[in-house]
Amino acid sequence: MDDGGAADSGALRASDLEKIEEAAALLRSGETVAFPTETVYGLGADARNTAAVEAVFAAKGRPSDNPLIVHIARRSDLEGLVTEVHPVALALIDAFWPGPLTLVLPVRPGVLSPLVTAGLDTVGVRMPDHPVALALLRAADCPVAAPSANRSGRPSPTLAAHVLEDLAGYIGGVLDGGAAGVGLESTVVQVQPDGTVLVLRPGGITAEQLAAVTGTAAGASGGNVPVPPGAAAGGTGVSAAAAQAAEVSPAPRAPGMKYTHYAPRGALSIVRGSSAQCVAETAAGLLQAAQRGGAVTGLLLFEEHRALYPADPAACVVSLGPLASPEEAARFLYAALRRFDEAGATYILAEACPVTGLGAAIMNRLMKAAGDTVIDTD
Ligand code: TXA
Ligand code: MG
Repeated sequence: MDDGGAADSGALRASDLEKIEEAAALLRSGETVAFPTETVYGLGADARNTAAVEAVFAAKGRPSDNPLIVHIARRSDLEGLVTEVHPVALALIDAFWPGPLTLVLPVRPGVLSPLVTAGLDTVGVRMPDHPVALALLRAADCPVAAPSANRSGRPSPTLAAHVLEDLAGYIGGVLDGGAAGVGLESTVVQVQPDGTVLVLRPGGITAEQLAAVTGTAAGASGGNVPVPPGAAAGGTGVSAAAAQAAEVSPAPRAPGMKYTHYAPRGALSIVRGSSAQCVAETAAGLLQAAQRGGAVTGLLLFEEHRALYPADPAACVVSLGPLASPEEAARFLYAALRRFDEAGATYILAEACPVTGLGAAIMNRLMKAAGDTVIDTD
C-alpha cells in the first residue's frame, strides 16, 4: 500500500511543528491529547497503551462498551492493525482517505489495547484529512485511538474552545487547529463478505458518494444503510432500497449509536413537515406558549425560512445557513447546539432538513440530540 496525505505538513509553521512535537511526546508517554481533524476534534491516546486509553474513557465519561476509532497517518500503518481488507473496502480507502470515512475491519489480535475495540473482533480505522492531525500521527508514530473530544452526551467539539469547555483539567493538552471543516463526524462503514457496504453511522462521506464508488445508484440515508456491491466488487449493482429489502439481514450497529448524543442542555424537539410555512407556524405557536410558561426558548432554523416567522420568535434564534448549503449547516450544527446552552435555553425547536446527501448525517445528529422527539405538522 502506498502512503496517503503526503505533502500535508508543508503548510505548517515551525511554531506549529514545535507544538505538534510536544503533543506527540505526550502521546508517546501515555498522556491524552486533543487534536483537530477535518471532522471534529478528537481526544487521542496511544491505542496500544491501556492506561492511556482508560484515561480517554474517564475524561469523556464514556461507557466502556463503546469502541474507539483508531487514527493512522499512512496507508501502510493499516497492515499492522487488521487481518484483511475486502476489495470493496480497499476501493473506498482509495477514494476517500485521507478523509471522513472510518472502516470497521477485522482487528489483528494483540496489537491494540482491548479497551479500544470494547472486546469486539473488529476495529474502526480512519486517516484524517487534516495537516495537524497527520503531522501529529506521524510524529507520535503509533496508532492513535481518538473519540470526539467532548464529554459523553455533549455536542462534539468543532473548536479547541469547545474541547476546553468540556474537558479542561481532565486531559494532557489540546492542539488548536482552528475550526473543524466538515463539522460532523466521519461516516462509519463495514463491508460485508459479499461486498455490501453497511453504513453504521452516517457522516462526512454521503451514501451517494459511497454508492458512486461501489458503482450503484445512491442509497437511502440514515443509519445502517446498505450500499450494495457494484463495479468495485465486480457486482452488478442494484438499488440500496432493494438490497435492504431483499438481501440484508439485521445490520450490526456502531455501538455508540445507541447512546443519546450531541444533546444541548435544554429539551430539543424537531419540527417536520412538507410545507415550510406550516412548520414555521407550528413552531412559532409552540415557542410562544413555552415562553408564556416561563421557558427560555431557542429556535434552530434555515436561513430561507427566517421570514416565515414573526419577529423574535424565540429568545435565542440560530440559523444553520441556507438549506441549499448543507455543508454550512454541518459545519455549524454542534456550535449551534452549544450556543443554546450559552443562552440558557430550556425549550428548543429545530427545523428538519431533507435527508439527502449531507442532510442524512445532519438529521441523524439532530434526531439524536432531540432523543427522537419529532413534531410532525402534516
Ligand atoms: O470523525 C470522527 O470519526 C471523530 C474524529 C475524532 O475522528 N471520531 C469519532 O469518534 O466520532 P467517536 O468515538 O465519537 O465515535 C466512534 C463511533 C461510535 O459510534 C462507535 O460505536 C463506532 O464509531 N465504532 C468504533 N469502532 C467500532 C467497531 N469496531 N464496530 C462498530 N462500530 C465502531
Ligand atoms: Mg463522539
